[in-house]
Amino acid sequence: MKTTKPLFRFDLISLMPEMFQALTDYGVTGRAFKSGIIEMNLCNPRQFAKDAHNTVDDKSYGGGPGMLMMVEPLVKAIESLKDTQRKKGFKSAKVVHMTPRGKSLSHQLVRELLKEESLIIVASRYEGVDERINDWVDEEISVGDYVMSGGELPAMTLMDCLIRQLPGVLNDEESASQDSFVDGLLDHPHYTRPEVYRGIKVPDVLMSGDHEKIRTWRLKESLRQTWNKRPDLLAERLLTKEESRLLQEVKREQEQGPYN
Ligand SMILES: C[S@@+](CC[C@H](N)C(=O)[O-])C[C@H]1O[C@@H](n2cnc3c(N)ncnc32)[C@H](O)[C@@H]1O
Repeated sequence: MKTTKPLFRFDLISLMPEMFQALTDYGVTGRAFKSGIIEMNLCNPRQFAKDAHNTVDDKSYGGGPGMLMMVEPLVKAIESLKDTQRKKGFKSAKVVHMTPRGKSLSHQLVRELLKEESLIIVASRYEGVDERINDWVDEEISVGDYVMSGGELPAMTLMDCLIRQLPGVLNDEESASQDSFVDGLLDHPHYTRPEVYRGIKVPDVLMSGDHEKIRTWRLKESLRQTWNKRPDLLAERLLTKEESRLLQEVKREQEQGPYN
């Protein structure tokens, strides 16, 4: 069923708008677009180029390899999108530029961005963008310490993280509330049929039907995963009494080794 006003609107500035079909046509995000919970508008900055070839890139002053995206087509695209958003009754139109030098994408940053109701996301290409674009950008975001060929996949990563947190996007079984990072811990291990695979058995507690025991096991295994794989997360988090006790158990078990 179509809702009247979407919960979130994305305006994308990209030279390769077709790439965003990966989000609109598949899975959880595809469903959210079809239901009208979210709305996306794609803007190719070539439409704001000034010459017959729709040029949007040029050589870098001072020399060096590669081309840069020119500032004017991008600024014109941002201004035109802000104007459209205003006319459609959206309050805020924060401008985000996906760039390796930006703030690292995290669950916390996603929570902050969810306070907006619309975003204009610039997905750039080439060697990057004329630095003067920053007078029109509110936030620079990176998806990690590596360089990709363009901002489209980083933009889709950000959008997917935001979309799955919006109310009504996930059903109960898919609930995001128990995902990794949501409460500062990694997710616990999961198992499905068969009960035994090549001699490897599903932990007995999960077959016990005892909900309290299962809850405690999951919390403990969540702490174990976090302790072993991302101890930095535990350093940032205050543990409850139960969590501290379970973490001590994990540490003791690991000190003793698997055969003691
Ligand atoms: C080839 S990259 C440019 C890299 C730039 N010369 C540098 O060294 O930082 C082209 C575009 O891909 C996007 N991009 C690449 N890696 C990214 C990352 N880790 N996070 C966010 N965007 C990224 C940015 O939009 C960037 O302008």
